[in-house]
Amino acid sequence: MSVQAPHLFPSDFLWGAATAAYQIEGAHLKHGKTLSVVEKNMNKNYADPSIASGHYQYWEKDIALMRELGLKAYRFSISWPRILPDGRGKINQEGVDFYRKLINKLKEYEIEPIVTIYHFDLPQCLQEEYGGWSSRKVIDDFEAYCQVLFTYFDDVNYWLTINEQSNMFQLPYLMEFNPDIPLEKQKYEMNHIMTLAHAKAIHLCRTLLPNAKIGPALGIIPNYPASPKPEDILAARYADEMRTYLFMDLYMKGEYRPFVWNYLVENGIEPTVEPEDMARIQSAKPDFIGINYYQSRVVKYIPEDTDKKELKLNYDGKDDDTQYDNIPGLFEGMTNPFTPKTKWDWEIDPIGFRYILNELYDRYQIPLMITENGLGTLDELTADKQIHDQERIDFLRDHIRQLQLAIKDGVEVWGYMPWSFIDLLSTSSGFRKRYGFVYIDRDDKDIKTLERIKKDSFFWYQKVIASNGCQL
Ligand code: BG6
Repeated sequence: MSVQAPHLFPSDFLWGAATAAYQIEGAHLKHGKTLSVVEKNMNKNYADPSIASGHYQYWEKDIALMRELGLKAYRFSISWPRILPDGRGKINQEGVDFYRKLINKLKEYEIEPIVTIYHFDLPQCLQEEYGGWSSRKVIDDFEAYCQVLFTYFDDVNYWLTINEQSNMFQLPYLMEFNPDIPLEKQKYEMNHIMTLAHAKAIHLCRTLLPNAKIGPALGIIPNYPASPKPEDILAARYADEMRTYLFMDLYMKGEYRPFVWNYLVENGIEPTVEPEDMARIQSAKPDFIGINYYQSRVVKYIPEDTDKKELKLNYDGKDDDTQYDNIPGLFEGMTNPFTPKTKWDWEIDPIGFRYILNELYDRYQIPLMITENGLGTLDELTADKQIHDQERIDFLRDHIRQLQLAIKDGVEVWGYMPWSFIDLLSTSSGFRKRYGFVYIDRDDKDIKTLERIKKDSFFWYQKVIASNGCQL
């Protein structure tokens, strides 16, 4: 007699996949759209965003592939400058129509749209006009943009406010800073302003779309101590405070963590907090938290007189080419000898996934949705047009197993949106580093045919979805 494995994923579990506008659409200066900050700052050696994956042109083909894959949900982002080319005011009807068609088609195929409002693409004109996220003026503009989305796309049930507020701190190409103001000070000011904008989006959603679910998507990297030395244990705690719980507590409790706040004040880099700010943030509790999980990190204690280091990512896929960041006196990142790594030095740690999901759920008791998880690597197209991406299948399988265990541990998870549906323009590494279930026939230098080719992982994930996670 065969015994069926326990069915651990809920029957309405949202098996999905994710993308972001500027990484797939192309047509970045066409059909009424203007430039965004992240597009402007894209490394010039990579494919530019004018074509990206050609999704603006081939969106119908792409949705047909989603249907074939059996997706229950699709996470994508709306481009702010495609909807509002001047950042505010006049609406670009062509942009609205594009997303309207997309959403209609998804609905027709019973694929739940999960829409990210902001995925790094601030209209460049707002950066030039008032310094973008460094000015409180952006809060009203962001709210007005949300109002347009909630009005035109009022049938969307799941919204993500801001993607990876935590990473916007660390990756220089995502934000623009004023060289005349100390960098750290600016970052915390911007973070505060962005949190207020996120809160405004939630308040507005409650008014206009009371039945919709809304939350942020946070990039989460759990920090492990380098050794059992008490100093290292504290270092890991401090790294989590500064890189994860700062954001989580703001979103969930509307408070600055005392440790973080004291650190900011001691260093003269605390943000300006106006009288109503914290109440406004506190009253904007999300319905769920989106989690982008790719890797864990090890940290060690370093003394205060150590030189400050910024994170320098491995951009080229050469082994051991990452410079880990630090906060002198608190912690410094380092490589983990116990986990394998991707070609871009990202630690592959499925157990860390289970660990952090438990940790976040224990602390905040809020449903989670996995909004990104995936393997960025080189994929080879064979002569007979196949992509044997077993490495990606192994990565995803191991993470889904741990997700299943986290659910068994008691964590409430609504869905899983691996990154990414199709190959796309990796912000840090261009088209060489691929993530998709579907290969896009192009590289950084040559647009080629843009043909969509299903990878082995496509057929594997199709079975995972059809079996509701039983067949891994
Ligand atoms: C997340 C972003 O940080 O990681 C995505 O939300 C990004 O936009 C993904 O593509 C993978 O990072 P990268 O740098 O490899 O493209």
